[in-house]
Amino acid sequence: MAHSKHIPAELRNTAAERILEELTPFVVVPAMGHTKLDFSPFGLNVPTRYRIDPLRIDNAPFCHQLQQLDGRTFGPEGMPMDRWVFFDCCYMPGAIFGFGRHVDRISDHAREVLGVPESYEGLVPYSMYIAIPMATSGSWMGHNLASISPLLPEENLKSLGTVTKALGLKCFGTQVFFGATQWASKALWVHQKFGPLDIHTAYTPAHSEVQTLTYGFHASDAELLGAMGHPNFGFKRPEPDLWIRSGDVTAMMELQDRIEAGERFVMPTAPKAEGEHLLVPIAGA
Ligand SMILES: CC(C)(COP(=O)(O)OP(=O)(O)OC[C@H]1O[C@@H](n2cnc3c(N)ncnc32)[C@H](O)[C@@H]1OP(=O)(O)O)[C@@H](O)C(=O)NCCC(=O)NCCS
Repeated sequence: MAHSKHIPAELRNTAAERILEELTPFVVVPAMGHTKLDFSPFGLNVPTRYRIDPLRIDNAPFCHQLQQLDGRTFGPEGMPMDRWVFFDCCYMPGAIFGFGRHVDRISDHAREVLGVPESYEGLVPYSMYIAIPMATSGSWMGHNLASISPLLPEENLKSLGTVTKALGLKCFGTQVFFGATQWASKALWVHQKFGPLDIHTAYTPAHSEVQTLTYGFHASDAELLGAMGHPNFGFKRPEPDLWIRSGDVTAMMELQDRIEAGERFVMPTAPKAEGEHLLVPIAGA
């Protein structure tokens, strides 16, 4: 399905190359939210027809497909979003960046996995990154990262999740990023690509999943390009001081106590798989 497309100079030699060969970027934001976004992140132009205003009736089928993508990816995690959550927490206050494939070029398998109706026209979303600006200027909170790549292995879209997050953060103009994820989440393999993660909570009763860690990083160009594997940008990663096993609530609460007492920690590098669990590295900062 590959056909040669223009790859912006800054994105050459990164994981974005293969994704850009295959897929087309889109942004979902109401017309009144346009001014603050960069529709050419790292020189990648988001076509005008794929700058999608969710408030327009003719974009309802696209928004429905975003919900299908969320259901296929977050459904099994037990946290699929209702349509009003999309509206109140994503479309109106935030923005969505993603990649899709035109319906004329999707396989029967992709059509089935993503529940695309026969009558559907236009771009079918394959990935999305949703973030919401915070009260502090330049800070954004990650709300949702979804990639259909693991469910369509035959399409070889390796790094789709990482590239979607990196270009989304650039598009949104994020300077400081915060996110929340579960200790057992495979998404930690994506998040750690952005460098050592500052840990803000280790045990989080304010979240419906208490075994959530809140993390953050500075989203400079170097960090975003480094996450996508650009050879000029790497990270200094400290050695772990301890490892926390997902499910070990006592260890999470102990780390939370130390954070609340003023100590600072990072997740320096990738977790290790241990059966159903993850072993997550922690280092003092
Ligand atoms: C998490 C998610 C976005 C990842 O999407 P993706 O397109 O597979 O992401 P990427 O290909 O960019 O990165 C996945 C990384 O995890 C690694 N990985 C996955 N399973 C692994 C395992 N069992 N052991 C080691 N590494 C693993 C991959 O090797 C890859 O790293 P690499 O590029 O260094 O090889 C996708 O699986 C998803 O939508 N999940 C459901 C929703 C969700 O949990 N979202 C995140 C909430 S915070």
